[in-house]
Amino acid sequence: MKNLDIIVDLQYGDCGKGKVAHYLCEKTKYTHVVRYNGGANAGHTIYHKGRKVVTHQIPVGVMFGIKSVIGPGCVVDPELLEKEILELKDAGINVSKKLFVANNTHVVTKAHKDEDAKDAKIGTTKKGIGYAYRDKYIRLGKRAEDTPELKPYTIDFYKEVVNKPDSMILMEGAQGFGLDIDWGDYPYVTSSSCTSAGALLNGFNYSNVNSVWGVAKIYETYVGNKKFEPEEEIFKKIRELGQEYGATTGRPRQCNYFNLDTFRKAVKINGVTHVVISKMDILRELNEWKVIENGKVKNMKTEKAMKEKIIQELKPFGVKKSNVFFSEKKDTI
Ligand code: IMP
Ligand code: MG
Repeated sequence: MKNLDIIVDLQYGDCGKGKVAHYLCEKTKYTHVVRYNGGANAGHTIYHKGRKVVTHQIPVGVMFGIKSVIGPGCVVDPELLEKEILELKDAGINVSKKLFVANNTHVVTKAHKDEDAKDAKIGTTKKGIGYAYRDKYIRLGKRAEDTPELKPYTIDFYKEVVNKPDSMILMEGAQGFGLDIDWGDYPYVTSSSCTSAGALLNGFNYSNVNSVWGVAKIYETYVGNKKFEPEEEIFKKIRELGQEYGATTGRPRQCNYFNLDTFRKAVKINGVTHVVISKMDILRELNEWKVIENGKVKNMKTEKAMKEKIIQELKPFGVKKSNVFFSEKKDTI
């Protein structure tokens, strides 16, 4: 049964997965929306009914009254979850009877956050993510089913989601390909699987996949301690125009041109069927259409040429032109 639509980020996060998730929920009748990796390190900016809402752990489905689940591939922070529930309530969104946490999702504790607070190497979000996954893998972790604060939300994910007949599920990813634990630029990565395969680890398999929506930006951004941004004025302009500051930590994001080399790799490994390229409006204002190919900057000169190039690149991967969307709005593709 092809009942999964998966959203993945093809760069370093912050490409507009929240926007795509919101769009797909408007378009498709989902029975469930599932967050499949990461935790409170994520920041999804969504425009709902004309209002800006930032989510961290809670899937976008709650805004549409769809059962929304924090899946077993995630790590959940009960304290920050409570805070986020209240923030959504303030924004007029009630999560009651819509928000669930899988029994077997691992929990982020205060001790994890205290350890992460000392990080000086990676430039983490200090949300305890790596330490919670570490404890999961060394088999010392605590799961949602053993956490009293999470009792009102916990479900048997197999029974309630995986094995439910007639389900149609949106898998909402976090972070991105360049931050993936295996395929990202290690060690400057997060500690979870940010690919479509990572979505499947939540109890699904290849025969479930209906579509894979890959999301990228027409330029790139990265937040963390490695050097990413070249010393050129243009990237400072991109940062200001694009408001490239972290939704979770407020840190300035480093900017660079669209990298075709990593884009191809991300498209291939994720098996994307649809692509959304965000922030066309920002680059149009600067009118500088450059890409990185084979490690070198290449001037595409015009918006049209750059779009054509991306469409051509996607052809060998079986992504049709009609499935490539160039987005120039904050609130929709
Ligand atoms: P951690 O996930 O907090 O351990 O951080 C590891 C790296 O991933 C750091 O470079 C973070 O800035 C980055 N990171 C984690 N979550 C996100 C996100 O949602 N968007 C962008 N970068 C992220
Ligand atoms: Mg973000």
